[in-house]
Amino acid sequence: MSEAILLVGGKGTRLRPLTVFTPKPLLRVAGVPFLTHQLARAAKAGVTRIVLATSYLAELFEQEYGDGSGLGLELVYVTEKEPLGTGGAIRNAAEHLTSAPGDPVLVFNGDILSGLDIAALRDGHKASGADVSLHLTRVADPRAFGLVPTGPDGRVLAFLEKPETQEQIITDQINAGCYVFTRSVIDTIPAGREVSVERETFPGLLASGGYLRGVADDSYWLDLGTPAAFVKGSADLVRGLIDSPALPGPVGEALVLSGARVHEQAVLSGGTVVCEGAVVEAGAEVDGSVVLPGAVVARGARVHRSVVGRQASVGAGSAVREAVVGDGAEVGPYNELPAGVRIDCGVSLPAQAVRVSAPVMA
Ligand code: GDD
Ligand code: MG
Repeated sequence: MSEAILLVGGKGTRLRPLTVFTPKPLLRVAGVPFLTHQLARAAKAGVTRIVLATSYLAELFEQEYGDGSGLGLELVYVTEKEPLGTGGAIRNAAEHLTSAPGDPVLVFNGDILSGLDIAALRDGHKASGADVSLHLTRVADPRAFGLVPTGPDGRVLAFLEKPETQEQIITDQINAGCYVFTRSVIDTIPAGREVSVERETFPGLLASGGYLRGVADDSYWLDLGTPAAFVKGSADLVRGLIDSPALPGPVGEALVLSGARVHEQAVLSGGTVVCEGAVVEAGAEVDGSVVLPGAVVARGARVHRSVVGRQASVGAGSAVREAVVGDGAEVGPYNELPAGVRIDCGVSLPAQAVRVSAPVMA
């Protein structure tokens, strides 16, 4: 028996418009909802029961996973009427745990793809007697994360969420978004109000002499909070750079789900996934991208490190790079869009005049 809390209540603002109708953890990554990869990894590490702390688009989680038996897990759903923040969500979800005060409880952010040895983090926590163990990793630019300097023994010295000045950037070691709490420590988080575990709970525990243990490793790690990270995570899973028990096919340059139609003269590369009901027509080139269910990439279109939303289309001869085409949006034929554009759900871009590179002979 091993329990976990999964934080999945965020609005996924940085991924809009992808998250207008789908919460971030349920976006398809390498063909299945992202959360399925996380749940499958947790189950493999011996986690048996997970409380999902939901808020935004809460009902969609239970529709997707039911009681969790399909994944060999017992899933329990808790919904915050108003988001309680990460710490408030952990406290609220803990009402539904069955663990005893001294038991270790895993807590996961719901948008992290990582190769962490979950069982080792949990077992090491028990042996250490720490109040909380935190998985840590290193990133090139730590500004969007929680900075966590540690001493030589791994003891956490400070916790600084999202530093704002250059002087505050004292380390490139960051909170990787997976913790083990001793159950009784969760019960010290105030109930019934918004609490940030990063800005309030961890600094508070440190100030009162609590033992926070950092566990750094160099396993694969990615926060899927932005469109660029989202497509990278999907492509890395498809190409096998990070393994997942939930990958719905063999690793390779592309993954085509059953029910998708890809023309034999289309070229898929770079870990592209084409979901069920999607169509990729002749001469199209799709590289490192996510083509969601029912989307169309028309003749000769080029799609590079982009997401094509559900029932969306990229017209014949059009090119999109590092773009997000929202659900149901249409990019008319022969558009060359600037890199990084986001097209809102349902928007139609008109066709452009056909560009002819060589003089047309009469
Ligand atoms: N239930 C619930 N309620 N969940 C929430 C709430 C809430 O009010 N707010 C956020 N969450 C969930 C999100 O759905 C996500 O899974 C997780 O908590 C973290 O929220 P993010 O919005 O993704 O935070 P972040 O990426 O800016 O920063 C966090 O993750 C970094 C690692 O990726 C922090 O924990 C940083 O310290 C950390 O470095
Ligand atoms: Mg995040």
